Amino acid sequence: METVLAKFDFAENNSNIINNAVDILKKGGLVAFKTETVYGLGSDGLNSDSCKKIYEAKGRPSDNPLILHVSDIKMLNSVSLNVSDKAVKLIEKFSPGPITFIFEKKECVPYETTGGLNTVAVRIPDDEIALSLIKRFDKPIAAPSANSSGRPSPTKASHVLFDLDGKIDLIIDGGDCQVGIESTIIDMTKDVPIIVRPGFITKKMIENVIGEVLVDEPLNDELDFKPIAPGMKYKHYAPDANIILVKGNNPHEYINDKIDHTNFKMGVVTFSESKHLYTHKNVLIIGSKNEPDAIMKNLFKILRKLDILGLELVYFEVFETLDEKYQAVLNRLNKAASYNYIEL
Ligand code: TXA
Ligand code: MG
Repeated sequence: METVLAKFDFAENNSNIINNAVDILKKGGLVAFKTETVYGLGSDGLNSDSCKKIYEAKGRPSDNPLILHVSDIKMLNSVSLNVSDKAVKLIEKFSPGPITFIFEKKECVPYETTGGLNTVAVRIPDDEIALSLIKRFDKPIAAPSANSSGRPSPTKASHVLFDLDGKIDLIIDGGDCQVGIESTIIDMTKDVPIIVRPGFITKKMIENVIGEVLVDEPLNDELDFKPIAPGMKYKHYAPDANIILVKGNNPHEYINDKIDHTNFKMGVVTFSESKHLYTHKNVLIIGSKNEPDAIMKNLFKILRKLDILGLELVYFEVFETLDEKYQAVLNRLNKAASYNYIEL
């Protein structure tokens, strides 16, 4: 299959790209498109055969359910049962935006979309391309992150092309994703809702709207026992390099001591505040410690850069903080590093 890469020009009328994408979706094909979080790999969400193609293209385990992307609350209600008052409040506050809700599913949603579950994950993305695609298609679009299973999520069209060239029909290139990590997921089927994946919309922001919510325990557990979101148990976001997370006081002293200055297969990821403390050739900056939003936006790009540089061993500086956005970054980093860390 030839994968077409189409650049979306926001200044022009790009309805031909969207129309072409809708034709592909109607025929059961796969279209990758930008959302505000990461690029999604879309198919007709109510068609079981199209959803199966997503699993094949990504090499994704079939018990890992897909998120349905909808354009408004009416479309959300067409696939979800028992949408509570709390859910409506959250939707009104945060949607369109980087948050996904889990509800009981209506019968029209095939089990190929939900990985066999009786619940369905739904979100309204806050992105011009994603929304116009869903509106024009006029049906929910199932879309996981558009990476090969296990690889870092894509935040640029070139990341999608690298992973899925020849396996999907079309990539709509809308530039870089603004948020950079996947949506917060909250299970609304419980009386006290549970956050099952952390993200840009934090527990505190949610509690300010609906009161107490819980966090799925396995998210904080290296054993990752049986999380509510099946996807959270898989090895994830992993570049080829072995990553060692280093936390505690003066990590540069430990890293400078460990790193071989003649070995260019080694690397360091640090913060802009600490860059000057290293002299090794491969020192990458993820952002400033004071700017968790920027760190979030850079995370997957940096993980992919490690592979582009052909690195085999990377010391990755991390720090303790109560900041929930940085904790969402750590949730991904722990998986990328297979919970391999040094505490100084
Ligand atoms: O920001 C995002 O959410 C991106 C963009 C493309 O929208 N999508 C995304 O999809 O991250 P994916 O497939 O990479 O991650 C979906 C996560 C998985 O961990 C999956 O197990 C969980 O959502 N999930 C989906 N449906 C679920 C359900 N019914 N119950 C529990 N977890 C569910
Ligand atoms: Mg994913």
